[in-house]
Parts: sequence; C-alpha cells; structure tokens
Amino acid sequence: MAPLNVYVSFYTSLIKSLTTLVFARLYKPQKLSQRDLSGQTAIVTGANSGIGLSIAVQLAKQDATVYLACRNPQRGQKAVDEVVARVGEKSEGKVHCWDLDTSDLNSVRSFCERWITQGKKIDMLVHNAGIASAPPNSPTTTQDGKELIYVTNFLGSFLMTHLLERHLFSDARVVLTSSSGHYSAAETLFKSQTAKETRAPGLATRAWKALVENLGLEKSSAPAYGRTKAQQVLFAQLLQAHFSSAPQNGRTAHAFTPGFTATPIFSNLVDFMRGVMGEREFAKKAEGEWRRWEGDADVNWDVGL
Ligand SMILES: NC(=O)c1ccc[n+]([C@@H]2O[C@H](COP(=O)([O-])OP(=O)(O)OC[C@H]3O[C@@H](n4cnc5c(N)ncnc54)[C@H](OP(=O)(O)O)[C@@H]3O)[C@@H](O)[C@H]2O)c1
Repeated sequence: MAPLNVYVSFYTSLIKSLTTLVFARLYKPQKLSQRDLSGQTAIVTGANSGIGLSIAVQLAKQDATVYLACRNPQRGQKAVDEVVARVGEKSEGKVHCWDLDTSDLNSVRSFCERWITQGKKIDMLVHNAGIASAPPNSPTTTQDGKELIYVTNFLGSFLMTHLLERHLFSDARVVLTSSSGHYSAAETLFKSQTAKETRAPGLATRAWKALVENLGLEKSSAPAYGRTKAQQVLFAQLLQAHFSSAPQNGRTAHAFTPGFTATPIFSNLVDFMRGVMGEREFAKKAEGEWRRWEGDADVNWDVGL
C-alpha cells in the first residue's frame, strides 16, 4: 500500500485538472512572455493548426526562427503565410515549413537527416502534432502494424528527439503537448507490449477487425489516446533524468496540458504510479517501456536508466 499522501496528491491534481477544464474560460487570459528569442531556433510539429500554430505565432513574435514541421505542404505553407501576416515584417524569412509525418518513421528519419545535414542547432523542440483517433474509414494501424495513434502522438517524437539529441543546444527545451486525458492511462500505461512480443493477428482476428471497421463500429480511441499522452509525460520525466545526469546540463524536458500548464500537476500520474508500485518496480517497468520504444523505433538510445 502506497503512503496516503501519494493518493491525496494524485486525486487532488486530477480534480484540479478536471475543474480547470470545466472552468477554464473564467480564468484571465495568460500574460504571454515578451522574452527576446532572436537568434534562437524552434521546431514545432503539427504547427499548421490549433495549438501548434499559436505556439509558432508566439515564438515568431518573440523573434525566434521557427520551423513548422507539417505533414501537408499546402497547409504548412498557408500556416507560414498566416504566421508572417500575424507577426509582421520582422518574421519574414524566419518562418519555414518542412515536411514531417510523425506517423511514418521514415518521414521522421528524413526530416532529421535533412536537419543534421544543415548542421543547425535547436533551442526549442516542440512535439505538438497529434490525433485523437484515426481518420474515419481508414486503418487504425500503420503499414508495419503499429497503432497509428501511438506512432503519431508519441513514437515519432521519441525517435525524433533521439535523432536530434546531438543538435540540441546545451540549454535547449524539449516540450510535449500532452493532455489531461493522460490521467486515464493509470491502468494501461505499462500494459503495452513490444512490437516483437505482439503476435501478428490471426485470420479470424483480421476478419473481425475488418468487419467492425467496415461497419463503423470500431471501439473508442480514447484509451489509446490517453496512453499516448501518458507516454509523453513519462518520456519527459525519463528524458529530464537523462539530461540532468550530464555534467553542467541546462537542457530541460516538459510535458504540458493545453490551457493548464502548471507543470507540477503533470508529474502526478507518474509520481502516483511510482508511489503505488514502489521505486524499484516502477524503475523496472519504466525501463521496460523505454526499451519497447527503442525496439519500436528501431534505435539504440542508452540513456543510463
Ligand atoms: N485542443 C485541445 O483541447 C487539446 C487538449 C489536450 C491536448 N491537446 C493536444 O494538443 C495537440 C495539438 O492539437 P490541437 O488541439 O491543436 O489540434 P489540431 O488543430 O487538430 O492540430 C493537430 C496538428 O497535428 C498535426 N498532425 C496530425 N497528425 C500528424 C502527423 N501524422 N504528422 C504531422 N502532423 C500531424 C495536424 O496536421 P493536419 O492539419 O495535417 O491534420 C495539426 O497541425 C495534440 O497533441 C493534442 O493531443 C489538445
């Protein structure tokens, strides 16, 4: 049995988070930073719309050079034009769009190769691209059989961070747009299996899946979504520990939920599980999860867990 304070802290955070979601509109608008970011470079994934576009606009307003990493070049270019229109002349030539499809690990590798070839350093790497479910009437898995939502929301960012790690400045920030939905993953975070452990579905399973998909009866994607958002939070913690283990490190890793960015609240699911499982069991499970991500992304990333 975990100490009582672990439960109190977790459920208080959960209630605060849900309350904030309901009453967010009553809060005063956030005062945005005016810090001068000239000379700094940011990559923002999924920046052609919504939260990613807002992040890109704000970074450009603060004079950063911003790379919008988008899967659709037309939508990406339109977003570049919109950022420049909203920020004005000073952002001209400093906002770019590069192709990136986070659901395709080859696309992630191409993006990173292009980046590495140009030898640019990164100050801010914002993993924001995400989906809540697969598009209607389309496959829920990638061509190599991984869950589409897992690769899009999480695994692509994991691989990208690994491939670009050497290009992060010594005080770079890695930021992940998570969600309060991550709380729902307490049951399932450590239940996923490595790609190797997952047996290929048999004929009957495939036929059943096809039937369910064709009839539009597929099950809710909410649990899978919540799990990817919890993976982001766990990743931020493990990545921060990795960064902090290097001497004189100034790099930081953050996961936040839009509209409620008080970061301590987000350590709570992970802290909760740490408290419930005990440090040793938690570390074992967390390492298992990291190894699975490595296996799925087909990389070796020894961060000294
Ligand atoms: N809005 C909320 O209330 C809320 C709450 C919690 C968390 N979030 C998180 O916030 C993030 C941004 O969501 P949003 O609300 O701003 O929604 P959005 O407007 O739909 O933005 C999602 C962005 O991700 C991009 N994207 C999706 N799949 C991609 C892929 N395979 N490769 C590259 N880019 C891809 C989309 O590009 P396309 O335009 O090409 O589809 C779009 O630019 C997501 O991670 C989401 O989970 C949002």
